[in-house]
Amino acid sequence: MTRVELRCSDPACARRVDRDTATYSCPGCGGLLELSYDLSPERAQDWPGVWRGRLPGGADHDRSGVWRFRELLPLFPDPSVAVSLGEGRTPLIEVPSVAASVGVAELAVKHLGVNPTGSFKDLGMTVCVTEAVRRGVKVVACASTGNTSASMAAYAARAGLRALVLVPRGAVSGAKLAQALDFGALVVEAGSSFDEAFALLRAIVEQLGLYLVNSVNPFRLEGQKTVAVELLEQRGWRPPDYVVLPGGNLGNVSALAKGLLELWEVGLLSRMPRLVVVQAEGASPFHRMWSGGRRELTPELEPATRATAIRIGNPANWPRARRALERTEGLTEAVSDLEIESAKRELADSGIGCEPASAASLAGLRKLVARGQIEAGADVVLILTGHQLKDTDYVGEHLSGRPGIRSAEPSVEGVGAALRGWL
Ligand code: F0G
Repeated sequence: MTRVELRCSDPACARRVDRDTATYSCPGCGGLLELSYDLSPERAQDWPGVWRGRLPGGADHDRSGVWRFRELLPLFPDPSVAVSLGEGRTPLIEVPSVAASVGVAELAVKHLGVNPTGSFKDLGMTVCVTEAVRRGVKVVACASTGNTSASMAAYAARAGLRALVLVPRGAVSGAKLAQALDFGALVVEAGSSFDEAFALLRAIVEQLGLYLVNSVNPFRLEGQKTVAVELLEQRGWRPPDYVVLPGGNLGNVSALAKGLLELWEVGLLSRMPRLVVVQAEGASPFHRMWSGGRRELTPELEPATRATAIRIGNPANWPRARRALERTEGLTEAVSDLEIESAKRELADSGIGCEPASAASLAGLRKLVARGQIEAGADVVLILTGHQLKDTDYVGEHLSGRPGIRSAEPSVEGVGAALRGWL
């Protein structure tokens, strides 16, 4: 059995913590916790074959695009305990016309919106909720801009746990809230931003014995890191030059880096891709820190963007996101809501739907190529984090220049009249 350790993610501390600890930060230095294993490189050369062998499916844990890679997350000796909804196994889709318009040699999107609840959160939630069950937890809780709550509520329902969600009032898409409600979660509206809701939740979790499943929970990152493996597998283990993704609370970039570094450690990655975090201009404290050459993050007190999923001013994972960029020679960018809108439209014109926050990755790539920070010959993968149907209000609000909706009299002539000027 592989050694599993929970420890402080700050290498300067690296203190070991009991796996069953009820806290989410290091009792020594306050840093975030992470899981580590003694992954053995000798056996790793066989893993791609083992993983491929599970593709036809069978048990839930072999069909899952997270648990299929369980050699990299050896957390549960019996994989059949996994609380799975068939997450992962998401498509990698080439978008040559977008590549040409941006000016890079190769461009593909890894669409994590095609997950059971429509976002990348499912990759982490399957692991986190499986751990909650192992611990005998009764209630799971999160603060959310919407996707984490939808995902948590689904996996909690699957496992028979109760789910509590804190969301900023009036700042979450109706579709995401509907998901959490449909799965039977209690939704509490508190505060005007994610940061405020998250701070409130953190203040009460221990006292109320809730199990917090936000991305400060190290088990979330274990599931989310598998996107690195599935991506590499889909590319025949040929690493891209850059992987670009939107950043909010910065758990996803931390997870992706962890996956890549572990693949590197066991010899399954020949070259490290550079990670690129794109934030919305009005909620870009990490970009300001990184591009300004600073080592400490100054929170954005009043984060603002229409891409509500990433409207976060005080990202909890910034120290590990900084290490992720240091270790992958990463880059950051900030994009306006207008730039997000045109990127989203460009993807839609290629038949790729996603929510606004996801389109930030393309908007950021375009700026970095235009500025020469990403070279024209680059081979790039964009991570699309959420499904198009996550924010249908946004689509309605941004229809200008589209054929849109016309109303017609219910007659052949009436419909004909409505088509005038379009056909
Ligand atoms: N894209 C989407 C669609 C998201 O929902 C989020 C985060 C991100 C990107 C940013 O990922 O936080 O790991 O940097 N959504 C969280 C939520 C905060 O509550 O659903 P991150």
